Amino acid sequence: MDVQNIRKDFPILSQKIYGHDLVYLDNAATTQKPQCVLDSIMKFYTQYNSNIHRGVHYLSEKATEIYEAARLKVKDFINAKSRTEIVFTKGSTEAINMLAYSFGEAYVQTGDEIIVSEMEHHSNIVPWQLMCGRKGAKLKVLPFNDKGELLTAELGKIITPKTKLICVTYVSNTLGTINPVQGIIYQAHLHGIPVLVDAAQAIQHVKIDVQKLDCDFLALSGHKIYAETGIGVLYAKEDYLDKMPPYQGGGDMIKNVSFDGSTWAELPLKFEAGTSNFVGAGSLHAALDYVETIGLSNIAEYEKQLLDYASQKISSIDGITIYGNASKKASIISFNINGAHHYDVGMVLDKLGIAVRTGTHCTEPIMKHYSITGTVRASFAMYNTFEEIDVLVEGIKKAKKMLVN
Ligand code: ALA
Repeated sequence: MDVQNIRKDFPILSQKIYGHDLVYLDNAATTQKPQCVLDSIMKFYTQYNSNIHRGVHYLSEKATEIYEAARLKVKDFINAKSRTEIVFTKGSTEAINMLAYSFGEAYVQTGDEIIVSEMEHHSNIVPWQLMCGRKGAKLKVLPFNDKGELLTAELGKIITPKTKLICVTYVSNTLGTINPVQGIIYQAHLHGIPVLVDAAQAIQHVKIDVQKLDCDFLALSGHKIYAETGIGVLYAKEDYLDKMPPYQGGGDMIKNVSFDGSTWAELPLKFEAGTSNFVGAGSLHAALDYVETIGLSNIAEYEKQLLDYASQKISSIDGITIYGNASKKASIISFNINGAHHYDVGMVLDKLGIAVRTGTHCTEPIMKHYSITGTVRASFAMYNTFEEIDVLVEGIKKAKKMLVN
């Protein structure tokens, strides 16, 4: 990979922060955008801006074409069977909330059970708690060990005849663990239980083939894979989408409306009420094209080298604890300097131009597991360099000197 050339595609990376070169290591929170994505947004607003699925005029048809081409792109990118299985949402959080509502209405009764893992992001816990509250169902938890690996052998003990769905993240946003989702899906299906895969942190690192995985549902966010914010996807097998009621009502999701009742549009529009983020969808198309020209496997291989280099360098500093040492990890490292608060470390690094995330990373159960209040998290993308990791390491040493006696 020609990283220096890739960096030129991302205008934001060449700026200075407090007089230092920006070292952007908060990619798990959001990725930066390449010029082609920025151009797609500008081109849409300067040439095609118009609402989709509504007009017979040229611009509306053009906008619809761009939106539906983006759907086809996503379908191909994750190898879904049909474009009807790709529902655009505003992100993975909305995708999971949509599923929690619609799946809950169609399939969950009082006393039923939903399984989530202990390492889920809040967005794959709270929607299920809300649904369980509405339906009188129970949330059960698949734990992980101190290395940050799911105890998949426990699944057999947690599953009961009442289990209706298993929800698991592909990659932990805090620990970096790449979970063995294929095995979990296989095991769940032996019991006739469908599985939701939260791919928010996986889509940019791991090649995903939903037919090969045989997951029933998958959620992803565009902004984690170099597209605009406010666009995401719920993938669902068509049979489920057919049987689930709509999540929201409004324009675009109906066939007919009368005061006696309404009927729903064909899939996937039944789940896309209101004006969708068609510009975001176009930007997602551009981002996926961009990722494909570099190659997801090249990206994954390079990020693995960054991860190995950073893990080795950071762990060789005395007085550092790294959280998450799973055998399979994406390019995410959570750590603390022993005796220093994660916010203070983040502030020192910030003043050196280094952007990391601090806090609980929307995974309070993981913090509880390790009895900590938060971590510092560095997360790497294809445009990061080994030199930037050296800058981070020097920053950590400086923070340690300033903050620990
Ligand atoms: N979920 C995002 C993160 O992990 C925001 O930072």
